[in-house]
Amino acid sequence: MRRSLFQYILCGLPAEMAQTVRMTLLGAVGKIPFGKWLLKRCYAPKEEGLGREVFGIHFRNPIGIGSGFDANGDRLGELSALGFGFVEIGSVVPRPQPGTPRPRLRRLRKEHSYVDNSGYPSRGMEYVLHNVRKRTPHTANLVIGCNIGKLTASHVDNSPKEYLRVFRNMYQYVDFFVINIACNTAAKRFVPRTREEIQSLIEPLFEFRRGQLDYRPILLKISPDLTKEELDTVIDILIETPLDGIEAVAGSLDLMPEFKGAATGALLTKRAIEIVRYIAERTEHNYPIIGSGGAMTPDDIASMMEAGASLVALNSGIRENGFKLLRKGAERVKK
Ligand SMILES: Cc1cc2nc3c(=O)[nH]c(=O)nc-3n(C[C@H](O)[C@H](O)[C@H](O)COP(=O)(O)O)c2cc1C
Repeated sequence: MRRSLFQYILCGLPAEMAQTVRMTLLGAVGKIPFGKWLLKRCYAPKEEGLGREVFGIHFRNPIGIGSGFDANGDRLGELSALGFGFVEIGSVVPRPQPGTPRPRLRRLRKEHSYVDNSGYPSRGMEYVLHNVRKRTPHTANLVIGCNIGKLTASHVDNSPKEYLRVFRNMYQYVDFFVINIACNTAAKRFVPRTREEIQSLIEPLFEFRRGQLDYRPILLKISPDLTKEELDTVIDILIETPLDGIEAVAGSLDLMPEFKGAATGALLTKRAIEIVRYIAERTEHNYPIIGSGGAMTPDDIASMMEAGASLVALNSGIRENGFKLLRKGAERVKK
């Protein structure tokens, strides 16, 4: 995709700084009079007829923001004005964690990819709650997903309790949940892969949801490094439990073993689409899939949807090509 001059400049900065600059400017534009109107005019998809129902929620279009892009929910109003179909905040963890020391995000220029070793820095659940509670007219209709992740410092045995704590507290303020069982690079040991490990995380959430008046869909976000057997186990869990869908996939630890961290972006495109297709075919297209991983161009977004994704979550694609990927992607999907 052709980059704007601004995007060229951003890509010349260290990767994490580029994102800070992007989000700071986005916030600044959002604050000026008519700023959000301007964002909408410049970037929001013009296409009609992109809306769809997925797991009982209406999405105005299928292209959203993936986790780790606006992790603390600081720019919900602006991302809504830009026209994204949803924003997945997080990974949210029960208390603030700084993540790994910088530099922790490497851009692989030639590969149009990144290696993320950030360890899910987060300002913690209370901070994020504050952001999602104060829904404004700009975010009133925005679909917000909450990705819950592993607190790096705490013991694996505490994870079910900690995931439940975030789930309960966020329950009434977001629209759906994504339970991250892919790897937090700073907590390498934590990749629940067996049925028992995965169920120990999600069963308490189902139990809590049973007692609520409002229904919140729960999805599992998986690693692209699972073996076929492990992927089949996840699909069996999807079919046999009240799980609502799968987000496939997170960054890969196996793709770039020479670097410490999870590879994202174009290096991941093929694998992500293959996994989405495999899940869709094995479940006979009966369960929603959020496609994530390597959606860098409008064609990638379309391929992800053709493979069986109901929604597509962007992250590296915007880091590389800017927010115009949304409008171009929507035009391509509408064709
Ligand atoms: C800098 C960065 C931070 C991320 N943080 C999170 C996170 O906190 N939780 C999570 O589930 N995924 C996180 N991800 C993974 C993305 O949500 C996404 O699954 C992955 O990057 C693959 O998509 P992409 O190729 O479009 O980037 C992060 C990715 C990047 C690049």
